[in-house]
Amino acid sequence: MNVLVADKCPAPEMPRARKKSKTPSPGPLRPEEILRLNAELEDRVRERTAQLEAANKELEAFCYSVSHDLRAPLRSIDGFTHALLESYAPVLDSLGRDYLDRVRAASLRMNQLIDDLLRLSRIGRKEMRLQEVNLSDIAESIGEELKKSDPTREVEFSITPDVYAKGDERLLRIALENLLGNSWKFARQKPKAHISFGVENKDGKKAFFVRDDGAGFDMTYADKLFVPFQRLHGHHEFPGSGIGLAIVQRIINRHGGQISAYGVPDQGATFTFLLPE
Ligand SMILES: Nc1ncnc2c1ncn2[C@@H]1O[C@H](COP(=O)(O)OP(=O)(O)OP(=O)(O)O)[C@@H](O)[C@H]1O
Ligand SMILES: [Mg+2]
Repeated sequence: MNVLVADKCPAPEMPRARKKSKTPSPGPLRPEEILRLNAELEDRVRERTAQLEAANKELEAFCYSVSHDLRAPLRSIDGFTHALLESYAPVLDSLGRDYLDRVRAASLRMNQLIDDLLRLSRIGRKEMRLQEVNLSDIAESIGEELKKSDPTREVEFSITPDVYAKGDERLLRIALENLLGNSWKFARQKPKAHISFGVENKDGKKAFFVRDDGAGFDMTYADKLFVPFQRLHGHHEFPGSGIGLAIVQRIINRHGGQISAYGVPDQGATFTFLLPE
């Protein structure tokens, strides 16, 4: 039996009294020394940023070419299934035809997923042109488009006028299209829905928001929303691939900003994003 005998245990090390060092303490840095260290640090940050950008570009290019290359075999699966259905219909029973229909439906779905991946990858490759952007004007025009897409729906848009942000206009439009498009989609079951866009103060920073009183979601899964192809709602109830918020997050990240989501089931959702000023 292993018994620990107290006197065989090493004695705990006692903190020793510090000997007075003979070397003189470095003392405060001289201004030119601070400037040199700052410049060194900036160089290092620049170098690391360049490495990170190169790695990102490589990853984007990889994602792009893989997605592209997947299209050719998919076209062939779809083409031959179509040919089988057309030319061999008389020798196929209904179960055989049903199987082939399912193969075609699956290949269409995969085609959609590849399109979505390519869209996501393009967002990371686009050159950014920063300027003052009137987000309210963009939100207004998207709201008009959504209303035109289904005039039978009763949806009230409240858009705070003259909300400006510094960013790439095309990319910010894509982000707002996805956020407002989601609000429009997930508020579908409300007889009268409200969607708003505006800005509020969050710890002294401008926080832009898109809010709706639609289906909402369970906060337990809030971190999943921005992951490509992750969805919290059934495809039949609310169609979609689950790529929109991944695109929005990539756009906000490229601007050096942040996005977060808040939702309550059956009460609505709010998406809030910060952009560097
Ligand atoms: N306004 C919202 N209200 C409730 N749930 C939302 C809202 N916006 C997003 N979600 C949830 O987050 C998921 C991911 O959103 P995302 O925009 O990425 O995909 P999608 O709208 O389902 O499909 P896609 O954008 O590709 O057409 C949605 O499926 C839904 O579950
Ligand atoms: Mg969406």
